[in-house]
Amino acid sequence: MPYICPICQSPLRQHLPSQGYYCQNKHHFDRAKEGYLNLLPVQFKKSREPGDSRVMMRARRNFLEAGYYQPLAQAIAALIDSHRTKDQPMHILDMGCGEGYYSRQIETLCRSPEQLDLHGIDIAKNAILAAAKKQPNARFIVASNKRMPYADHFFDLILRVYAPSHDAEIDRLLKTGGLLLLVTPGPRHLWQLKKFIYREVKEHSVKIDLPEGFKQIESQRLGYTISPDQEQRMALLQMTPFAWRAKGEAQSNIQRAKGLKIETDFIVTLAIKS
Ligand SMILES: C[S@@+](CC[C@H](N)C(=O)[O-])C[C@H]1O[C@@H](n2cnc3c(N)ncnc32)[C@H](O)[C@@H]1O
Ligand SMILES: [Zn+2]
Repeated sequence: MPYICPICQSPLRQHLPSQGYYCQNKHHFDRAKEGYLNLLPVQFKKSREPGDSRVMMRARRNFLEAGYYQPLAQAIAALIDSHRTKDQPMHILDMGCGEGYYSRQIETLCRSPEQLDLHGIDIAKNAILAAAKKQPNARFIVASNKRMPYADHFFDLILRVYAPSHDAEIDRLLKTGGLLLLVTPGPRHLWQLKKFIYREVKEHSVKIDLPEGFKQIESQRLGYTISPDQEQRMALLQMTPFAWRAKGEAQSNIQRAKGLKIETDFIVTLAIKS
């Protein structure tokens, strides 16, 4: 069983036929009808709706589903495929998975997807609900990246795309020789969008912080230009950490700009746990 109890950390077992989960200390967790598990007990919730809001989630879903970040998904799938051991199932966790876009892309793009055991975790319940509905073959939970209720050394690969990290948990969950696949913004990511918002746009630093004991084995910089229409531009803006700065005039300038082209710039890093 991949899961541990978020309250007492003992292994979780599945009840049949209700398919809820329980531990030896009788802590019990229902399985939602969409198939996901909520392993974030109320006492660990810092707000009523932690994580990204519904508005942000919907904006991201519309934008991603339109395919603008498909080349990134392809790079992720290719990296996963190039590090697979033949005929061995691979346990993969997407941490801070949002509504599961990359998980679905991995299932679609990787070879022999039936050999992949795909998991996703996010603190936003609405995002997990949407992810679980769309991908019945993957297993999604609501929980925090700070305390991920999975057994030690369960995963072969952890994917983190623009999501908050917790190094000690990544280290605990990965097998020795397991892989961490990170996507972080490159120096010119969304440059033209930022020019509407900041008087002086600064390049992102390219320094990648890896957990202790991890060694980088590959790094790719992936950049291309996108031309989202007015609606998709606003969705893209909503997805960014600087959305709150774009008020009034900046927002309408972004919306009205004719034929706006925007650079993407991703740094894709693969590291191994020694
Ligand atoms: C910028 S989004 C990226 C989502 C997804 N990886 C993607 O690229 O489409 C960050 C995600 O991290 C989630 N998040 C924020 N804090 C979290 C935490 N402490 N634990 C788990 N997820 C968290 C948010 O709800 C959101 O879905
Ligand atoms: Zn328990």
